[in-house]
Amino acid sequence: MKQVKIGIIGLGGRAETLLASIVALSGEVVVTAACDFSQQKIDHFLGLFDKYKIKRPKAYLRHLDLLDDKNVDAVIVPTSWNSHIQIACDAMKKGKYAAIEVGGAASCDELWQLVHAAESTGVSCMMLENCCYGRNELMVMNMVRKGLFGELIYCECGYEHDLSEMGYRTDSRQERALHNLHRNGELYPTHGLGPIAKILKINRGNRFLTLTSTATKSCGFDLAARKKGINNVHFNEADIVVTNIKCANGEVITMTHGVSLPRPYSRDCRVQGTQGIWLENSNGIYIEGISPRYCKLDVAGNPYSTHEWTPVKDLYERFDHPIWQAYRNNVVGGHGGMDSLALRAFFDAVQKRTTPPIDVYDVAAWMCITCLSEQSIAMGGLPVPIPDFTNGKWVCREEELPSKWSLNEVY
Ligand SMILES: NC(=O)c1ccc[n+]([C@@H]2O[C@H](COP(=O)([O-])OP(=O)(O)OC[C@H]3O[C@@H](n4cnc5c(N)ncnc54)[C@H](O)[C@@H]3O)[C@@H](O)[C@H]2O)c1
Repeated sequence: MKQVKIGIIGLGGRAETLLASIVALSGEVVVTAACDFSQQKIDHFLGLFDKYKIKRPKAYLRHLDLLDDKNVDAVIVPTSWNSHIQIACDAMKKGKYAAIEVGGAASCDELWQLVHAAESTGVSCMMLENCCYGRNELMVMNMVRKGLFGELIYCECGYEHDLSEMGYRTDSRQERALHNLHRNGELYPTHGLGPIAKILKINRGNRFLTLTSTATKSCGFDLAARKKGINNVHFNEADIVVTNIKCANGEVITMTHGVSLPRPYSRDCRVQGTQGIWLENSNGIYIEGISPRYCKLDVAGNPYSTHEWTPVKDLYERFDHPIWQAYRNNVVGGHGGMDSLALRAFFDAVQKRTTPPIDVYDVAAWMCITCLSEQSIAMGGLPVPIPDFTNGKWVCREEELPSKWSLNEVY
């Protein structure tokens, strides 16, 4: 296979982690160009290549100049949230595949531009949603496709992570903090929703129809700011935003976003069907016929049945997704190995010039939850229609080429 030549646009902390994962892929991929509009960030990033003892890439201050570089096949875009979509559109218009980092959209209009760019250029845009390649998420998808959960009924997901330090970081102009300062919505939907959308076959026989979002009051960020002596900020982002999505096939997804209160990290996943349930926060799966179920007698001597969780890890040997069966003894890169898998899936699509496993329709459907949830909250929780970015193709999509990286089927 031809070595993939990559440009990285946006050289912050995330780019550093991605570079470490790319270096660990040893030779499949080479970073030939790097861009940031901060010279300081460029200098720091280029220094990492010396540390890894690999050739420095060509550096650019403007992403449009990098996109003209003939020595770049595809770009990875770990910039801050507001710039992902525009840069991906520019890349596709120059015939280059783009992999954007996670985030939400500011408007549906920019997502339509993304979809039209992919449709008119024939190259595609993937989101590097690493959680789609998480071991548990993939195992559950494998089990769902084997029919072990029966017919799917209800799912939950979320992003709950104490990032309250953003309360005193607004002066650093860190964009993420500014989004939380000014906006109020489901700001970080894809870590939870990406894997769930794939499990529910969104855009391939199913789609998101409507959502409603409800926001609590906002205390956590302000409290964190006050503790540092900052008394003049008030954050708009609610401590908890709850979003309910109704799907065309009748399933409901409840999403929870909370990044300002003290608590352990969770993506809150729950997948429930007529035969079983996965509950991330219980570390357990219950499947009829596989998990323990006992008949006991209550104090009056009447029989009742109890269901017990099977620990998720006890099912790895039997139900690990083929990707993880091959990977579990040699995990490399960031976020428990998920980063490397997402990158390899993207590089595979670039090498073969095929549609990536998370395609432009997925990107649009997942990212629109952010701006639509803001609208719903602003209207007191009214339902908001979710656009069909496939323009009807979800009913009968053309078959994807079988690929080990597929997130639709298990090959
Ligand atoms: N998948 C994950 O697990 C994960 C983890 C962390 C961060 N992220 C995502 O990665 C992205 C980057 O996060 P970060 O923490 O590195 O952010 P950051 O703000 O530290 O870095 C972003 C960099 O992009 C540069 N930049 C912004 N717009 C640009 C433009 N138009 N042209 C060139 N450079 C530009 C900035 O100067 C900055 O150096 C975000 O979308 C974040 O949500 C994902």
